[in-house]
Amino acid sequence: MTPCASCVVVLLALFHGSSSDKLISVPKYFPEINNDLTQVTWAHAVNSRAKLNASLNDNSMMIEADILMGQLEGSPPGTNPIPIMGHPPQTTSDLSLEEFLTTILKSGKHKGMKLDFKSKEVFASSENIVEEILNKPEADFPVWINADVLHGPGNSPVAPVDADYFVSTVVKKFPTAMLSVGWTTFINAQIEPYTHYDIGNMTDVLSRNSVIQPVTFPVRAALAAQSGQLLANLVRSSIPGTSLTIYNSNSSDKVDMAALRSLIHDLGKDKVYLDLPPEMMDQLNQKGAGSRLSTATGLILASIVALISMNYFN
Ligand SMILES: *[C@@H]1O[C@H](CO)[C@@H](O)[C@H](O)[C@H]1NC(C)=O
Ligand SMILES: *[C@@H]1O[C@H](CO)[C@@H](O)[C@H](O)[C@H]1NC(C)=O
Ligand SMILES: *[C@@H]1O[C@H](CO)[C@@H](O)[C@H](O)[C@H]1NC(C)=O
Repeated sequence: MTPCASCVVVLLALFHGSSSDKLISVPKYFPEINNDLTQVTWAHAVNSRAKLNASLNDNSMMIEADILMGQLEGSPPGTNPIPIMGHPPQTTSDLSLEEFLTTILKSGKHKGMKLDFKSKEVFASSENIVEEILNKPEADFPVWINADVLHGPGNSPVAPVDADYFVSTVVKKFPTAMLSVGWTTFINAQIEPYTHYDIGNMTDVLSRNSVIQPVTFPVRAALAAQSGQLLANLVRSSIPGTSLTIYNSNSSDKVDMAALRSLIHDLGKDKVYLDLPPEMMDQLNQKGAGSRLSTATGLILASIVALISMNYFN
């Protein structure tokens, strides 16, 4: 009897059992969303003490933050770099990764977090810090470990984080955490969507590192809107519980809202997180009212023009 590929995956999953049982998932931690992942609210770029304090006191569910190598403000020159909270090109911060994590843990607030690692170096230097926190019994909240691990659309100058190192480490060391893996992106004059090469490279990374737990794929809104079919197929053909996380990193991105709306509808709200600024959430929630309104206005205008020109020419 030849074992089929999916049976092997199922057997592996049963054998490891624990691996995805241990995952602390967002919909389980926040049952009030009723599996509608689009209801999850985000605090963005929580990379300073002030922002951390604010996000612990607001009504966001997930705290999103960036980690890079740098120095704490006021360190003497020549101090060795450590993992700090910040977004490139920042090199200093008033908040280290360690203080960020212990502050959230001690707060006892009902919050999850998404940690976005900007390089292999900072990820490697952070592993022990993150592991120590996640091993504490109080760390019962969802934690996402995120990096861009592949070159994606638009030839970004940003180097991706080493995919195999990142994925294998997250799987091995952080069994309670959600793996979040994406592509570097760059938007040129012409939008280049995600391609089947991008998707194929990603599924290759996951299969050669024997990932048998659900993952989330962060995708940039403007590009995701143009690659709906491809991304929906990727999620549907992945381990159950896999999702997209749609983000928008640049407020000048031109996003086809109608296309984005149909991607969300197509895939289902149990498979799409929306890590988007409030203006975009409002636009999405208008459910096409905007375009219907403008069509109606257009029709009325056209009729008026027609009436006027009829009168004029009569
Ligand atoms: C933290 O935020 C709370 C509520 O917004 C505020 O009252 C408090 O002063 C802040 N603490 C610090 C240290 O910034
Ligand atoms: C992605 O896949 C394409 C086509 O198979 C290949 O040429 C390319 O080198 C791959 N890129 C990465 C980063 O693996
Ligand atoms: C955002 O996009 C605009 C227009 O494409 C570009 O000029 C700008 O540099 C981008 N900003 C960032 C932070 O990438």
